[in-house]
Amino acid sequence: MNRNDFPMLNQDIIYFDNGATTFKPQNVINSVIDYYENYSANAHRGDYDISYKVDLKYEDVREKVRNFINAKEKEEIIFTSGTTMSLNLVATSFFAKYLEPGDEILIAKTEHASNVLPWFDLANKIGVIIKYIDLDKDYHVTIDNVLNAITPKTKLISLAYITNVIGDIRPIKEITKLAHERNVFVCVDAAQAVAHTKIDVQDLDVDFLGFSAHKMYGPTGVGVLYGKKELLDQADAYMLGGGMNESFDSEKEILLKSLPYKFEAGTQNIAGVIGLGAAIDYINKIGIDNINSYENNLRKYLIEKLEKINYIDIINYEADSAIVSFNVVDIFSQDIAYYLNKYNVCVRAGNHCAKLVKNVTGVTNSVRISLAFYNTEEEIDEVVDLLSDYEKIRNEMI
Ligand code: ALA
Repeated sequence: MNRNDFPMLNQDIIYFDNGATTFKPQNVINSVIDYYENYSANAHRGDYDISYKVDLKYEDVREKVRNFINAKEKEEIIFTSGTTMSLNLVATSFFAKYLEPGDEILIAKTEHASNVLPWFDLANKIGVIIKYIDLDKDYHVTIDNVLNAITPKTKLISLAYITNVIGDIRPIKEITKLAHERNVFVCVDAAQAVAHTKIDVQDLDVDFLGFSAHKMYGPTGVGVLYGKKELLDQADAYMLGGGMNESFDSEKEILLKSLPYKFEAGTQNIAGVIGLGAAIDYINKIGIDNINSYENNLRKYLIEKLEKINYIDIINYEADSAIVSFNVVDIFSQDIAYYLNKYNVCVRAGNHCAKLVKNVTGVTNSVRISLAFYNTEEEIDEVVDLLSDYEKIRNEMI
């Protein structure tokens, strides 16, 4: 689907590492070039035409993001460097001042590092307690297990919408409902979800949600934090500098700007933001529901093929996303990646920065195929073919 839009797909490669980052369509690349070639000024600072143009384009993307995730207000959309910064900002600027020693944060052992380490840091610095929601036999978070994990001390549940190894889709809307009934906040890492499924923050009613542009066909180094306005208003500034203050004086009085600028100190990744806008245009043109259903079919096709190979163990057979993780019996996952790379196939292998997953699956490393809508059944056939000859893998892997 739409492969011609992606210059990277002109190369002789099969790219199955979309969970790490996606390729960029030409309109995204053009939008970034256009900024650098034609109106490469700073935002919110200049009193001249090209700077006004930057302001308009930059704020236009904020509105596009608002619309894309159906936030109520533009002020609830903060540009960050990516999901990692978004989650760190939430932890440092809001929860570090809201939480008290002994308060509990619920996460799962299947989270990626950026939804674990900011909370560990709060545990180390202010004595909050990290608790893990039990997972079912398929490593999924269930409502019952969330209910079992909540105590009167629980203040926050922070979960990925879709996890990056298990690929499970969490019932975020239901979790948020039961969390809010108990005065518990909900923060969502949407990095693996945003390019694959519709996100409606008002419908989900989440308090905070972060994602990265580069996993949704946009540039690297830019992302979004969504937060409910009343919560972002209460949060401290994350970084201080130009662009986020109204005034300051020699008595050290600082008057901060209002949302969203309070969180956008220094010159922002303007080209990245503009590219993110183009990525949203691109996804909207295809339709996120079309992307979702195409990828689901592709995943089913891949699973059907892989499960016929008796020496392949699929870890997340029951997941319903674009991510399939597996191992080849008695062969180290990175050797499989190395072998596939000889045939120009890009997959990710290892622990995928989700270093607690092994505690629940018992599997330290895995090979991960993460699909995008530009992948095809023919590509899957080629890779399955390469994986279908155990002797060949053994002979060629080093
Ligand atoms: N979180 C990214 C991945 O899963 C880097 O590959």
